[in-house]
Amino acid sequence: MTDITVRRVKFEFPDELDDVFPGVDPVGETYLAAFSMTMPALEPYLIRTCRAVADRITDHELAADVREFIGQEAQHFQNHKRVNDMIMRQLGDATAVRLQRILDELEADYRRYSADRSDRSNIVYAEGFEAMTCAMAMTMFEEAAAGRGGVGRSGTFGPWQQLWSWHAAEEVEHRTVAFGLYEHLGRGYPYRVVGSLRAQLHFQRYIDRLQRVLLESQGHPATRHLPPWLKDSGRRRYLNTFRPGYDPGALQPNDLMSTVLAMFTPGTTG
Ligand SMILES: [Fe+2]
Ligand SMILES: [Fe+2]
Repeated sequence: MTDITVRRVKFEFPDELDDVFPGVDPVGETYLAAFSMTMPALEPYLIRTCRAVADRITDHELAADVREFIGQEAQHFQNHKRVNDMIMRQLGDATAVRLQRILDELEADYRRYSADRSDRSNIVYAEGFEAMTCAMAMTMFEEAAAGRGGVGRSGTFGPWQQLWSWHAAEEVEHRTVAFGLYEHLGRGYPYRVVGSLRAQLHFQRYIDRLQRVLLESQGHPATRHLPPWLKDSGRRRYLNTFRPGYDPGALQPNDLMSTVLAMFTPGTTG
């Protein structure tokens, strides 16, 4: 149904935090770093969720999309893991230990969800997360296209910015898959709203804890912040995901996203 391409990309990250924490926008920078840290726990959980129900998908096109979705998510977290390791090393042992303790809890939560929760519960978590990241990614591209920062706020386009651009673009590219899976095997509209909200709150609580440690590590007060993209058009886009008629397939990605995807697709120029 949808055109989803698994792009095998391996970013090489220099051993320095200049691109990750340039110090221009501490809240935005620590939010993205916290988000990155959760990926090696979250994305394998999404993959386990898909694999657990793969043989019950009777729609062949959806089944093919789910396979590509798994392929993309597997590429994402492997790159995030490498940059996360570098960030941890650079932050030093004391901060790394604090962060790792939080990440171990998150990993344990997801292991428990996969083992104990129903497939529907795990699918609605996946849809809640994917609907949110699609809104986030589309907002980042809109902001970047309008010259209002986004991932390239530090003025460079190094491996860290490239990682996020590639990841965000593929999140938009596979935006229909978790929704399609939920429509196919889920439990209807009210459960989607409640389950998505619960998932997003669970995830955001971890982001918040990680972000406060990271803010402190950069010499800033360890205060709570809303996700930086959750304002203006981002908030509208996010709230739209809770409408009964929400259809991620009807969303129109901007040209910048297509340019980024072309950049990372072998055989195309960009
Ligand atoms: Fe991803
Ligand atoms: Fe995704």
